[in-house]
Amino acid sequence: MKLTVVGGGSTYTPELVDGFARLRDTLPVEELVLVDPAADRLDLVGGLARRIFARQDHPGRIVTTSDLDAAVEGADAVLLQLRVGGQAAREQDETWPLECGCVGQETTGAGGLAKALRTVPVVLDIAERVRRANPHAWIIDFTNPVGIVTRALLQAGHKAVGLCNVAIGLQRKFAALLDVTPAEVHLDHVGLNHLTWETGVRLGGPEGEDVLPGLLAAHGDTIAADLHLPRVLLDRLGTVPSYYLRYYYAHDEVVRELRTKPSRATEVAAMERQLLSLYADPALDEKPELLAKRGGAYYSEAAVDLAAALLTGSGSPYQVVNTLNNGTLPFLPDDAVIEVQAAVGPKGPSPLPVPPLDPLCAGLTANVTAYEDLALRAALHGGRDRVFKALLSHPLIAQYEYAEQLTDQLIAHNREHLAWA
Ligand code: G6P
Ligand code: MN
Repeated sequence: MKLTVVGGGSTYTPELVDGFARLRDTLPVEELVLVDPAADRLDLVGGLARRIFARQDHPGRIVTTSDLDAAVEGADAVLLQLRVGGQAAREQDETWPLECGCVGQETTGAGGLAKALRTVPVVLDIAERVRRANPHAWIIDFTNPVGIVTRALLQAGHKAVGLCNVAIGLQRKFAALLDVTPAEVHLDHVGLNHLTWETGVRLGGPEGEDVLPGLLAAHGDTIAADLHLPRVLLDRLGTVPSYYLRYYYAHDEVVRELRTKPSRATEVAAMERQLLSLYADPALDEKPELLAKRGGAYYSEAAVDLAAALLTGSGSPYQVVNTLNNGTLPFLPDDAVIEVQAAVGPKGPSPLPVPPLDPLCAGLTANVTAYEDLALRAALHGGRDRVFKALLSHPLIAQYEYAEQLTDQLIAHNREHLAWA
């Protein structure tokens, strides 16, 4: 089995490689190709990746290259984890929206739109080259904003599934609180990428007993503290929102906080410098502790599970993925991309039925789906008007004066990445 990681020079890659090494019985990788245009990073990351495999006696071969076409040739699955413009572009996304009093975040709001506009054309070009090299290859997309990028891929007819670690993180957390194994915890997970709610927590599988009310009663304070949301809000919702919902439910509070501290991009850039110097140490042969300070916890486990299900029919039978709605949420268009539990196998994901959604969640989901549709149009076809409309449609922006100002800022800060600007 050959897997290719586009953006393989990312400091996150050792997390993924560690997962491939530990879980090699689930996913027998013979060749792992890390492809990245940044040769210096790739050298450091590739070196550590080889040492991680060696430490665990993994027989697989690790190849590093900057040649995308060679990298995807014969690959069974291609993982996309790239970041157009790097942390410098993220820093901008997190900063200029704050000037209008809007949240500055890499996937939510105006910053997320900027990221989508930079990213969608690059990802579509890569996907075309994957398809040319091997039309049967699966594309697993971690590249944010995952909902919009996955929608772009599926609309262009690619064999793609979008993946995020929010659900697997909650599954692990709830398992610890309930004192059961993660595999026993099945989440009723619904919404869009970075806009989800756990409406049930079941033991044993999709038909298992829903223990969410008891979980909230016993551990509501812990869960609320993790989300930085008041306990009383969780009790009223009766669900567990993802931490990205805080950008909605506590928007102004978040904006105040963001204005008084360095951006996440600045923190991450500093961590990346440290990580790269650790990776350069030939004695290091495991992922360093510091990597746990990044947001991507457990993403290797999610990736291995999904690749195993898609490529070999093994892996967990149900997994939370980003895939076509196709009637699952009846109030959304069929071609919307939703994030839900799906049965996953070699034919791809097929969402499990979702019970009718509380209007509180359905309304926001419908609104953000419309935004994602307009955002994708702007990413595909460009133009100031399309950017403006996407921004105006976003529930955290919504006013034309903000949308005008943010449109100008977005274009000014991203001109070098936007072919039409
Ligand atoms: C979570 C999200 C990812 C996001 C990451 C950011 O894992 O699910 O989509 O990329 O957080 O983490 P960072 O360490 O870069 O802030
Ligand atoms: Mn995510």
